Amino acid sequence: MTGVVLRPMTGADLPAVHRLERLLFPEDAWSEEMLRGELADQPRTRHYVVAEGPGGEIVGYAGLAAAGGQADVQTIGVRADHRKNGIGAALLTELLDEAVRRGSEAVFLEVRADNDAARRLYERFGFARVGLRKRYYQPSNVDAIVMSRRFTPRPPMGFNRENT
Ligand SMILES: CC(C)(COP(=O)(O)OP(=O)(O)OC[C@H]1O[C@@H](n2cnc3c(N)ncnc32)[C@H](O)[C@@H]1OP(=O)(O)O)[C@@H](O)C(=O)NCCC(=O)NCCS
Repeated sequence: MTGVVLRPMTGADLPAVHRLERLLFPEDAWSEEMLRGELADQPRTRHYVVAEGPGGEIVGYAGLAAAGGQADVQTIGVRADHRKNGIGAALLTELLDEAVRRGSEAVFLEVRADNDAARRLYERFGFARVGLRKRYYQPSNVDAIVMSRRFTPRPPMGFNRENT
């Protein structure tokens, strides 16, 4: 992660993020308009961050949706030439921290069954498989695995009358 910093994603990042999106997800890349729509919901229900290299170039990004006690990892990706440096882990850590800050009880995500790198990353962060969507990704006909991670519930709040 040397020289790479995380910062909030802004509208000015969208052309670069979208270029990266098309490289990372050639089969089902979101359009720039879809990404703009996500940013329009910040900070209400969305939290998007970019990983910026030393020269200011965007080498990764990730986004969270959070509402009603539940959060979803919307997307996460790292440029191929910057992988295996902990950037993916840093981005996911930031999303999970934000989910906790927003009081989410659990985080969900979908991952392609053939995406070993991403599945390993999620398992390392305590995600477990909770469902399967058959042939979800088209045209490649690949299943989506639904994974989730629960957060430990906070201790109940209230007055401890014995100590008053
Ligand atoms: C999934 C993805 C985001 C992971 O990003 P990453 O930056 O490579 O993630 P990390 O570096 O944190 O961890 C990946 C691996 O690198 C290893 N690693 C981390 N830091 C390392 C270091 N300094 N030296 C060597 N290896 C390292 C980790 O142990 C991990 O190993 P594993 O694959 O055996 O679990 C990336 O592969 C990606 O963008 N894929 C394409 C898009 C995609 O599929 N996104 C997920 C959609 S659900």
